[in-house]
Parts: sequence; C-alpha cells; structure tokens
Amino acid sequence: MTEPDGGAVPVIAIDGPGGAGKGTICRRVAARLGWILLDSGALYRLVGLDALRKGVDLGDEQGLAALARSLDAVFVPGPDEVHAQLGGVDVTEVIRAEPVGRAASRVAAIPAVRVALIDRQRAFRRLPGLVADGRDMGSVVFTDSALKIYLTASAEERARRRYKQLKDKGIDVSLSALSRDMVDRDRRDAERSVAPLKVCDDARVLDTTAMTIDTVVATVLEWSREVFPQAGA
Ligand code: C5P
Repeated sequence: MTEPDGGAVPVIAIDGPGGAGKGTICRRVAARLGWILLDSGALYRLVGLDALRKGVDLGDEQGLAALARSLDAVFVPGPDEVHAQLGGVDVTEVIRAEPVGRAASRVAAIPAVRVALIDRQRAFRRLPGLVADGRDMGSVVFTDSALKIYLTASAEERARRRYKQLKDKGIDVSLSALSRDMVDRDRRDAERSVAPLKVCDDARVLDTTAMTIDTVVATVLEWSREVFPQAGA
C-alpha cells in the first residue's frame, strides 16, 4: 500500500452517508475547478456487480478480495458524467440499481476488499487536483487532504433524494423500502471494523437538509478558494 504523496496534489475529501448529495456536489465542484473526480462508491458498486454476475457469494471474503484485486474497471469522463465500464462494457446505469448498492455495501465491509482498492483510488490524485467522494476519503485514503468535508442531511431527506434520483432514472423503488435500506446501510457503514463512516476531527461538517444544491456548491467552492488559493473557480 503506498502512502499519500505528502499533499503535492491538492485533494478535497468529501465524505458522508448515502443520499447526502455528495455525488452531485462533487461532480459540480470538480467541473467548476477543472479537477479530477473520484467516485469511490462506484468502485465498490463495480465489485458488487462483478460478484453478482460471477456468482461469488457475498460472504466469501477471499473470493471478493480476489475480484477487487483483478477488477477490470475503467472510468471514462463524458460531457455530463463519468462512465463506468466493467470488462469493456458500460455499466454506469446498472451500478446505480438498488441490488448493486446493497451488494456494494456488503463487499465494502470486507477489509481485504478495501485494501485491494486503495492504490486504485490514490491513482486518481493528479494535477491540477482531485475531488474525492466517499466514506473514508479523509479518514483513510487521503488523510493528508487539506480540505475535508463531511456532507450530511437528515435520514428522511436523504431517502427522499435517493428516491427522486432513482425515479428520475426510471428505476422503480418504494420510498419505505428505500428508507429501511438506507438505515441498514448507514449502520453497516458506521459499525464496520475497517474504515467506518465517521466525522474526522479536522473535517468541516455541512448539513445540507435545508440547503439548495447551488448553495452547497457555492459553500464548498468558497472553502476550496480559502484552503487552495491557487484553485481557479
Ligand atoms: O456512495 P455510494 O452509495 O455509491 O456507495 C456504495 C456503497 O459503497 C456504500 O453503501 C458504502 O457502503 C460503500 N462505500 C464505502 N467507502 C467508500 C465509498 C462507498 O464503503 N469510500
């Protein structure tokens, strides 16, 4: 496992629970700054999808770690979003489905899977800078990040946002099932033995429950200008 490179390339580490708006915020902030985007959740979703497709049991830690080590995944930046490919096939939409999200949450609790994905995540750290979206960006992967943000919102609001996001994509879900699932996933993320979701001591907490996306983006950009005066936006 390589260590972060001492902060030569700036990183904004944005962590928080599912449905807090990290994906949208990170995408917009990265676009405004012209920085690279890492959607670390997509990596765990890709491992989950690979496991479901290959019939690897979600309790088979060694098998899942082997999948994570050999994951044939590529991220291709597009005009609106980064496209994820697995084995050369575009799976950007497929990995957003709830069964894949559930599988991702299971595989993400396995220490050997997390270790297998560390270097792959750190390889995204390139000039002019990186906006990293996840659960352990500030606490594990980019510990030397000079700007760590913990983005959160109330559980009801997060379930509502996830519901709308899936509906907009034409994915059929029930709000109550989604809420239950979100509580389960939050618990698994917070209670797992390795890289649990937590607020780092040096993180700035942003509760977005009553904020618009534009206001959240403006706040993050203001903080990034303060911490990285060279960042243009
Ligand atoms: O953010 P997203 O919902 O796409 O992440 C899918 C799952 O991957 C999460 O439920 C979480 O369990 C896991 N994850 C993680 N560490 C990260 C990013 C995601 O454990 N850095």
